This record gives sequence, C-alpha cells and structure tokens, in this order.
Amino acid sequence: MILCALVVVGGFFGDEGKGKIVSYLAFRDKPKIVARGGVGPNAGHTVVFNGKSYKLRQLPSGFIHEKARLLLGPGVLINPKVLLKEISETNINPRRVGIDYQAGIIEETHIERDQKKDLKGRLGTTGTGCGPANADRALRILKIARDIDVLKDFLTDVPGEIHEAIENDEKVLIEGTQGTFLSLYHGTYPYVTSKDVTASAICSDVGLGPKFVKDVLVVFKAYVTRVGAGPLPGELSEEEAKKRGWFEIATVTGRKRRAAPFNYELAKRAVMLNSATMLAITKLDKVFPEVAGVRDFDKLSDEAIMFIKNIERKVGVPVKIISTGPDLQDTIDLRD
Ligand code: GTP
Ligand code: IMP
Ligand code: MG
Repeated sequence: MILCALVVVGGFFGDEGKGKIVSYLAFRDKPKIVARGGVGPNAGHTVVFNGKSYKLRQLPSGFIHEKARLLLGPGVLINPKVLLKEISETNINPRRVGIDYQAGIIEETHIERDQKKDLKGRLGTTGTGCGPANADRALRILKIARDIDVLKDFLTDVPGEIHEAIENDEKVLIEGTQGTFLSLYHGTYPYVTSKDVTASAICSDVGLGPKFVKDVLVVFKAYVTRVGAGPLPGELSEEEAKKRGWFEIATVTGRKRRAAPFNYELAKRAVMLNSATMLAITKLDKVFPEVAGVRDFDKLSDEAIMFIKNIERKVGVPVKIISTGPDLQDTIDLRD
C-alpha cells in the first residue's frame, strides 16, 4: 500500500477558492474518489470549467473528473433538496454519488432556528440550518441519511469505500469546507461554525485515519476575506477593498465579504493546526493584475514571485499550486 490520500482545507475564514483548487486537482490527478468533509450546505464553492460556472453547496467540487466517485462522509450534513438540485444542475450520473448511512439530515425546523436572532442575528450564520442540526446530533435526536427515503439509492459506507481505494493504491482526494479560523475549537469563538474544520476533523468526517494521509494542502487566498461577524485583523474599508479589486459577494448568502491583506500570522498558525505539507495560493491576479491567466511560473512578475517566496519563508511550507484566474486551468502546478 502506498499512501495516496490528499486532504485539502482552507487556511483562513473559508472562501479561499477551494472549489477551484479541488476541481483542478481532480482534473489533473484523476482520483478514484473525491470525498467531501466539513459542515454541510453552509459552504459555497465555485468551479469554472470549459466556460461554465458551477456553484456547489453539497457535491464535491471534483465532480468534473467524470470517473471520480463523489462521496459525502458521515460527518457531513445533508439538505436533500439542495443535493438533488445540484445533481440535476450538474447533469452528472447520480450513480457516482454516495452518501454515508450516518450523514446528518437538515430539516426545515433547523433552517428556521438558524434564521433567528441568536444565531443569524448575533453571529451572522449562513442560516442554512447547520448549527441547529449539529446541536440536535449532539443530543442524538437528528435524523440520519438511512432514515430518509429520497436518499436510499445513494447510501453507502464512505469510510469503507475510501479504505478499499487506499488499499488498492488508488488516489483519493479529500475536500474540506469552511476555513481554519471558522473552526469551533481553533477559530475566533463564538464567531465560528458548528464544528472543527481543520484537517484532522475533515479526515474524521469521512472516516480516514491519520496514518493514511499523504499530503495536507492548505489553501490561502492572496488576501483574506470573511463573511458574518467576528474579528478580521487589518480589515479594510469597503471603499478600499473595492479599489484593490478585493470586494466579493458570498456564494451562499449573497452577503458582502469583508476584506484584509494577506495575514502571515494567521497563515503560520493555520499551517501548524493542519500540519500542512504544501500550500496553494489563489487569486494572485487580484493582487498582481499582470499575472492574470499565467500558467507558467517563469512568466510570473518579479513582484508576484517575491510575494510567493515571502509566504514560503515566513510560514516554512512550500507553495505548490498557484491560481491566476477562475478557470481551473489558470493554474501553476509546482508539485513533483
Ligand atoms: P471556497 O469556498 O474556498 O471553495 O471558495 P469559493 O469557491 O467560495 O470562492 P468564491 O466563490 O469566493 O470564488 C469567487 C470567484 O473567484 C469564483 O467565481 C471563482 O471562480 C473565482 N476564482 C477562484 N480562483 C481564482 C483566481 O485565482 N483568480 C480569479 N480572478 N478568480 C478566481
Ligand atoms: P454557520 O456555519 O452557518 O453556522 O455560520 C457560522 C459562521 O461561519 C458565519 O460567520 C458564516 O459566515 C461562516 N461560514 C460558514 N460556512 C462558510 C463558508 O463556507 N464560507 C465562508 N464563511 C462560512
Ligand atoms: Mg465558499
């Protein structure tokens, strides 16, 4: 058995561009399985491929590699309506999708509770029902996927499928959601999501033990954004964020994202908490417009290369993937 699992997680507050990076890795590496961990449909990932843009909240972003099995682990929350809509919108073969028997189910009541003052109002949650569903799971009253008729054709043993692939030396890509500082344990509590989302937790979500992980790729955007309440060191005014081209609108909630320059202290801590072995930097073209669409490291500007080298020097882990545009092929891959 050779170790062949790659785990991808966000290094800041989510929205680092994991959707883009995971879709590129699936396209390039052709894994047998892309399995999603993380909280649930509070996440929004954007995948741009062949001129088409997809917004995903439940399906793994690696769906564009047509041979990949697409799995949702027992730690992930499922909103069946959202999932079925995405299967139909992406036009994938539904037989590629597997949901673990024990994945938790979001119902209308969870969404209603999440929309209230104490959650959406106080913390700026996404209002998608994830926090109340995880609370019900802790109380052991949450329904799980095996209780839900519309999911019966998708049910599977996700940890079992992943381990079988690893035993057969097949590549496995594990996709995290949210970002390190939204972790319930390691983030800016109470302004965090409803569980841990660092690499260890993402592996646990899909039933992958720590000894089977080959690499942990932490994704950083070339600047920092955050939606909802909570501290954001170095936060820029909306006007300044617009001037720099860093002003963004959230994929799931349509809210404005707050923005700040790249934060080396947070990056260092994210590397530590996730045991990163490599980094990806996205949206380099939003800091250095001259690098837009560049796919060759030697064609980057000196300033952009200095920025990358500086990150490597300060956090002590190599940058192996650089994203210079929305299309999954606008990517520089420096892996061996
Ligand atoms: P995750 O939640 O980490 O998956 O990030 P996201 O997919 O939510 O990122 P988001 O939706 O904020 O992405 C915003 C837009 O940026 C999308 O249209 C992406 O296709 C696009 N994008 C991703 N990477 C790059 C990049 O390197 N350069 C540019 N210009 N756009 C990018
Ligand atoms: P919840 O996860 O919906 O409970 O929201 C808690 C906090 O996490 C809020 O600040 C949300 O904006 C944030 N959050 C949750 N998921 C994401 C994500 O995928 N991207 C960015 N922020 C997120
Ligand atoms: Mg997102």
